[in-house]
Amino acid sequence: MYQLNFDLNSFLSTHWHRKPTIIRNGFVEFDDPITPDELAGLAMEEEIDSRFVTNLDGNWQAQHGPFENFDDFPDTHSQLVIQAANHWHPGLRELAEPFRVLPNWLFDDVMICLSMPNGGVGPHIDQYDVFIIQGMGKRRWRVGDKGDYKDANHHTGLRQIEGFDPIIDEVLEPGDILYIPPGFPHEGNTIDVSMSYSIGYRSPKKLELLSGFADYVLTNELGDIHYYDPNLQTREEHGMIPTAEFDALNNMLMKLLNDPKAKSRWMGEQLSQSRHELDIMPAEPPWAADELFQFMEENLVLEKVSGLKALYHEDDLSVIFLNGESIELPEGCEAAARVLCDQEAFTGEDLGPIANNPALLALLLELCNQGYWYPQA
Ligand code: SIN
Ligand code: CO
Repeated sequence: MYQLNFDLNSFLSTHWHRKPTIIRNGFVEFDDPITPDELAGLAMEEEIDSRFVTNLDGNWQAQHGPFENFDDFPDTHSQLVIQAANHWHPGLRELAEPFRVLPNWLFDDVMICLSMPNGGVGPHIDQYDVFIIQGMGKRRWRVGDKGDYKDANHHTGLRQIEGFDPIIDEVLEPGDILYIPPGFPHEGNTIDVSMSYSIGYRSPKKLELLSGFADYVLTNELGDIHYYDPNLQTREEHGMIPTAEFDALNNMLMKLLNDPKAKSRWMGEQLSQSRHELDIMPAEPPWAADELFQFMEENLVLEKVSGLKALYHEDDLSVIFLNGESIELPEGCEAAARVLCDQEAFTGEDLGPIANNPALLALLLELCNQGYWYPQA
């Protein structure tokens, strides 16, 4: 079990979204949650997003996985990167565990990098808050201040910039953590063969909220109503939009934007959508209702599929949001929202008296059969 060696709340109050820092010995004890071989194995899987980045003679190149083998890959000036590794490997899920006190709706994924000496992805800027945890090996990290930087090496797709003056320039050793907020340029360069783990958080943009809401409105065919004014009168100013009519149209728009039910459903659905593929496998064979009932009776553990975003609104526990979908809880079963969404795993005992509610059991049966929860191994 991973345990942080620093107080996350005092860290948040001084650094979150504000400034980069290095936390030496960020864990009480640190062991790599995965081996280099296992990591390479993940890069061979079709569903897993991986890339291999090389910079031999200053020539940056990126190749996308899946990879069949690594025989031709250089053992210096290279780095293998796996996105959302926590969705596919239990060790990475465990590594993210101490960060679960940060909101799931902001959490993106755990990315892992296996880097050879002089390997890296070059200088770049991310729009993520990231905790980069150094595992085995050593890497030198340089971080610059926020500012305007010139793009470089467009063709690689690596979103690199030309360079920056460092405000941090230090070597990370196993168990150290580098925190970087969005917008600060940075570059890691490998000294000894290294594994590092990036716990990433992504804040949505204003425009993503608006376009997401617009998609919700279209999909659900909301607001399919024309402007209506039975009191129209003639006017001299044929070209004018009168302020009163502007206000009426604006009100139409605001009414739609402020529809509480639409807004709450859309926001839950949008924020619960994972940006990376999940390892969801429908139960095979499917659960029978009495089997699940028995499972609950015996307090056996059901585990949530790793990386699944399960959310609820503070002021309405009657609906939960799972991976982009709204799910209404049966009447009287609002307590299940917290159990299902706040916990990575649960038992019948966690649900308390509603554990044998037939409507809740029917819903859980469906969710387990879809593969969102499964019996803990
Ligand atoms: C790296 O470890 O080089 C990539 C991680 C990052 O810069 O975000
Ligand atoms: Co970065």
